[in-house]
Amino acid sequence: MPSGYDDEWFDAPTLDTDVSAMPAAVCRGVRKVYRTADEEVLALADVDKDFPSARVTSIVGPSGSGKSSLLRILACVDRPTEGSVLIAGTEVAGLGPRGRRMLRRTSVAYVFQNPIDNLVEYLDVTDQMKLAARLRGQRPTEAEIDRLLRTLGLEQRANHKPVQLSGGEQQRVAVACAVIGHPAIVVADEPTAELDSASAERVLQAVHDLREEGVAFILSSHDPAVVAASDHLLRLDHGRVAESW
Ligand SMILES: Nc1ncnc2c1ncn2[C@@H]1O[C@H](COP(=O)(O)OP(=O)(O)O)[C@@H](O)[C@H]1O
Ligand SMILES: [Mg+2]
Repeated sequence: MPSGYDDEWFDAPTLDTDVSAMPAAVCRGVRKVYRTADEEVLALADVDKDFPSARVTSIVGPSGSGKSSLLRILACVDRPTEGSVLIAGTEVAGLGPRGRRMLRRTSVAYVFQNPIDNLVEYLDVTDQMKLAARLRGQRPTEAEIDRLLRTLGLEQRANHKPVQLSGGEQQRVAVACAVIGHPAIVVADEPTAELDSASAERVLQAVHDLREEGVAFILSSHDPAVVAASDHLLRLDHGRVAESW
């Protein structure tokens, strides 16, 4: 089968509704309460937000405002206490552990703050990307890998292992691995926090250039450069929406 058909199959929505016309992720009335032995912490309250495909949305706010809580819910590693979260047209609240695991595998990519945590120590850059795609049930063509390497300015690094790369290069590889299987959303909690400003700038440029792959990037940050590189913003304050555009 020509590879063009392959791609069409993988991109085709499996639901009756036309998910391509919907935002990649939608939050409605999201509330998160953490219950510990002797207290309840309200981390998120009444959060409404759409996260469109092919756009970068940054989530900002002071420490403790609920950014990581919301990103964990969007990444399907935690569930809201109340409210609705749709990822690629699927309601996350109704899923059990197995359903969430499936959705995570097919529709969500997560980029950790510390670049090295995103990579497999003994694989070179090309093999990292192939592995990331395979975990989503896809096999990228050499042309697709080359195109991503060029977009990220990593064409001279294709055969390097993580330890041979700078932190900024490692994080660009992580971003490439995140988009390569065409998930609906890429979630990154403070992805530039460990980088100097020049490296952070290049990672943000990579994210910006890779929007065209069609994924919704959702980044949390304290960094004004991240906000400047975003198409949309959600500002949280004590778990509530303080600004949204
Ligand atoms: N597992 C947890 N148990 C109890 N409280 C938590 C837990 N995780 C986060 N919190 C609390 O929820 C609030 C929001 O935290 P968080 O989402 O980490 O904010 P941010 O990422 O903006 O710093 C804070 O008050 C934090 O202490
Ligand atoms: Mg946080």
